[in-house]
Amino acid sequence: MKVLVAGAAGQLGRALRTALPSAGHELVAADHARLDVSDLDATRALVAAERPDAVVNAAAWTDVDGAEADPDGAARVNTDGARNLALAATEANAELVQVSTDYVFDGETDAPYDENAATRPLQVYGRTKLAGEEAVREACARHYVVRTAWVYDTAGRNFALTMRGLAGRRDVRVVDDQVGSPTYVPHLAAGVAKLLGSGRHGTWHMAGGGRASWFELARAIFAALGSDTAVAPCSTQEFPRPARRPRFAPLTSVQDPPILLPAWEEGVLAWARDLTQP
Ligand SMILES: NC(=O)c1ccc[n+]([C@@H]2O[C@H](COP(=O)([O-])OP(=O)(O)OC[C@H]3O[C@@H](n4cnc5c(N)ncnc54)[C@H](OP(=O)(O)O)[C@@H]3O)[C@@H](O)[C@H]2O)c1
Repeated sequence: MKVLVAGAAGQLGRALRTALPSAGHELVAADHARLDVSDLDATRALVAAERPDAVVNAAAWTDVDGAEADPDGAARVNTDGARNLALAATEANAELVQVSTDYVFDGETDAPYDENAATRPLQVYGRTKLAGEEAVREACARHYVVRTAWVYDTAGRNFALTMRGLAGRRDVRVVDDQVGSPTYVPHLAAGVAKLLGSGRHGTWHMAGGGRASWFELARAIFAALGSDTAVAPCSTQEFPRPARRPRFAPLTSVQDPPILLPAWEEGVLAWARDLTQP
């Protein structure tokens, strides 16, 4: 299939640039400079010119705290951008993968969230992403809404690399009362590649298997790096942030069969191995 990726320079976009050709797809990579998804005319023009079989929306406003200060800016990318790609994909008779987030949930539960769980975002970012999901469902029948969580890579800005930067420091404290599904981005990209062309349209939860707190993730990261950095658990209250986060939002899937990603611990080991590759 010919697949156009919007947001091709982000974590997921870069991973798809490897995963899609490996899965035999022809890739059209559109980074932010080539396509601003908040511009409907530009989006329509590029999709119409390229005539892809599928579009993947990996473009997003992912600054969760920054969205609180600029809700309109976040909505332009996460909601309007999603709608624009959905309209353009429908006009070009292409499928659309819209990537979404565990932050559409409020975390007030003790069981992992499946695709049918009720949504209730706690912050601007989650609300703009949920509105993006809804716009996609409305504008493009052949959609896959893929919710993922806690994404990290060997490059860019993410929690795993932040921890690596703290290796060797004393007094590293990490919150232990937020639990989720850490996801190594090449694993997510491989999952997205499996969905394309499957015709299994609808909502999908796709994240690292199992669950961890940020503290547990940090401990696993230092262990995988061979660092004896001591990390101590702390509470969210001790680290106030502008945006509220869900307390407990691991993802699970009731798709039959589901597309399961490797366990989060395997993701950390693969990340540490990949860091050492040239
Ligand atoms: N990161 C996470 O922990 C996480 C968790 C759950 C779900 N997700 C979802 O997973 C998807 C991929 O996230 P990611 O981690 O790969 O994000 P990322 O690394 O922040 O990449 C997002 C990309 O979107 C681009 N972008 C921003 N505004 C744009 C616009 N108007 N038009 C076109 N491109 C634009 C950014 O470019 P510039 O940098 O040039 O603006 C960036 O390259 C997103 O849908 C995100 O909501 C992420």
